[in-house]
Amino acid sequence: MSGTTIDGKAAAAELRDRLKAEIATFTAKAGLPPGLRVILVGDNPASQAYVRTKERTAQEVGIAGGVDRMPAETSQDELLKAIASLNADPATHGILVQLPLPDHIDEAAVLDAIDPAKDVDGFHPMNVGRLFSAKSGIDPTLLVPCTPMGSVMLAKRVLGNDLSGLHAVVLGRSNIVGKPLGALLLAENCTVTTAHSRTVDLPSLCREADILAAAVGRAEMVKGSWIKPGATVIDVGINRIEGPENNGRGRLVGDVAYDEAKEVAGAITPVPGGVGQMTVACLLKNTLVAAQNSLR
Ligand code: GUN
Repeated sequence: MSGTTIDGKAAAAELRDRLKAEIATFTAKAGLPPGLRVILVGDNPASQAYVRTKERTAQEVGIAGGVDRMPAETSQDELLKAIASLNADPATHGILVQLPLPDHIDEAAVLDAIDPAKDVDGFHPMNVGRLFSAKSGIDPTLLVPCTPMGSVMLAKRVLGNDLSGLHAVVLGRSNIVGKPLGALLLAENCTVTTAHSRTVDLPSLCREADILAAAVGRAEMVKGSWIKPGATVIDVGINRIEGPENNGRGRLVGDVAYDEAKEVAGAITPVPGGVGQMTVACLLKNTLVAAQNSLR
């Protein structure tokens, strides 16, 4: 029997609808809308596409702001000055610097410079520390990284709100996804194993997972034979395979070989139409949370 497809598109649309109503309430109360500014340095094509989606969906739910596009040659000092001016701007509740940054800019220095109260990516060491210090359950005022938050929401869509005691295997240890996703699942009382490129016998480990989350950036690496029958599979990967599809742009695949995995899994997120949709919706959620926190 083949598993259920977890509809990230529908989940994101439901979340955006809820946010739209809460944003209208905030705007009436505060006398100004939640404000989000995205900084994009350089012209990485994938980053440009992500940033356009963030800008468009923010507008759709009533969030003000926009994108500050800076040339690839921008110096670190210029970028830090731009962040300082947004830190001081009362109409800006959320600041996101799109990653990756050009090689001459120190990513850690940039993330450190964002006011933690406006850090809608949840990447500032203060917010990372709070996430990793969480015991059972996460403080709703905390700014939590968007892709991990969306991943957990999608898992709960099929497993219900209580993930206690489930064994979650997270493939990947990036600061953007793997590590914060592990921390979030731990706060949900899962037993968490974080696996990576040096892990011995990845297929056997994955077969022990009730929740298998793949965030390694390797096209279709996780095979159907790696999945425990009935497991919930969250595919965070977005990999472009070149080819004639989509007017020569090729096709997008996840880190999981979807067709064969779906035959074994209980439920699985598709790519596209899975976690990616939720990431953007969770960014809007964090922007509202940052705006609400500013009134506390
Ligand atoms: N690049 C890829 N994913 C992300 C993300 O979640 N936030 C930022 N700022 N950059 C990214």
